[in-house]
Amino acid sequence: MAPPSDTPPPLVVAAVTKTFDQGNSQVRALDGIDLSVRAGEFVAIMGASGSGKSTLLHAMAGLTDVNSGSIRVDGRDLASFNDAALTRFRRERIGLVFQAFNLIPVLSAEDNVRLPAADQPGLETKIDEVMRRLGIEARRKHKPDALSGGEQQRVAIARALITDPAILLADEPTGSLDSVTGQDLCRLLHELSKNDGRTLCVVTHEPTVAMWADRVVVLKDGRVTAEFATSGSHDPEAISEGYRKALQS
Ligand SMILES: Nc1ncnc2c1ncn2[C@@H]1O[C@H](COP(=O)(O)OP(=O)(O)OP(=O)(O)O)[C@@H](O)[C@H]1O
Ligand SMILES: [Mg+2]
Repeated sequence: MAPPSDTPPPLVVAAVTKTFDQGNSQVRALDGIDLSVRAGEFVAIMGASGSGKSTLLHAMAGLTDVNSGSIRVDGRDLASFNDAALTRFRRERIGLVFQAFNLIPVLSAEDNVRLPAADQPGLETKIDEVMRRLGIEARRKHKPDALSGGEQQRVAIARALITDPAILLADEPTGSLDSVTGQDLCRLLHELSKNDGRTLCVVTHEPTVAMWADRVVVLKDGRVTAEFATSGSHDPEAISEGYRKALQS
């Protein structure tokens, strides 16, 4: 039987605009963005510096309010929540990962992972499972400064996944990693989408990261200027070529 078609995509961005005041002028960071991400899809967002990538990711995470348009996560319009409800929804349904890992330095790896999870029966088993899944179970008791960059980012991803969120959003997650460690992390993100059915939206300017996605969305001046499916061949040249064409259009 075909899956029910009335299930909404986990992430739907519709006609979103966002302006910032900069002195006497205004910058239109997002200028009418439409983007829908299917369950289990891995989308890479590319674009030049200042094209609006981080602003879009923050808006999708409910960290930035927008001027107009709507953002629906898991079928819920983020604008429909009050502050307290949005904080709770974000903690439970949206996993966030940043370039700088953003772990709490005084807490062990497992306590960092535990942080967003509510006290609940079976939590210890869940922490075990997610840390094993991400290959960091042997580092449970270590504090972040005793972990490598790649391990720290895996702890950050484990923390983002512990609540079983509808979507996982990452802003330049490999930006602080060397290229080998960065590729290991990309392989993990790819597996989370392909094997575990996670829905991912990852901001990157690197073709070697975007090549792991299913689809590349290119931003230019706050607009989606082009998007293209990757071939699944993990070929950075094909991504560079698609990106070059997108910026010329
Ligand atoms: N808090 C802010 N206040 C004022 N302007 C902002 C703010 N945040 C972003 N902007 C502006 O919005 C535009 C988009 O910024 P954004 O950070 O989304 O770009 P980006 O694509 O993530 O760039 P980068 O690749 O350098 O990270 C830029 O012109 C930036 O200067
Ligand atoms: Mg950015």
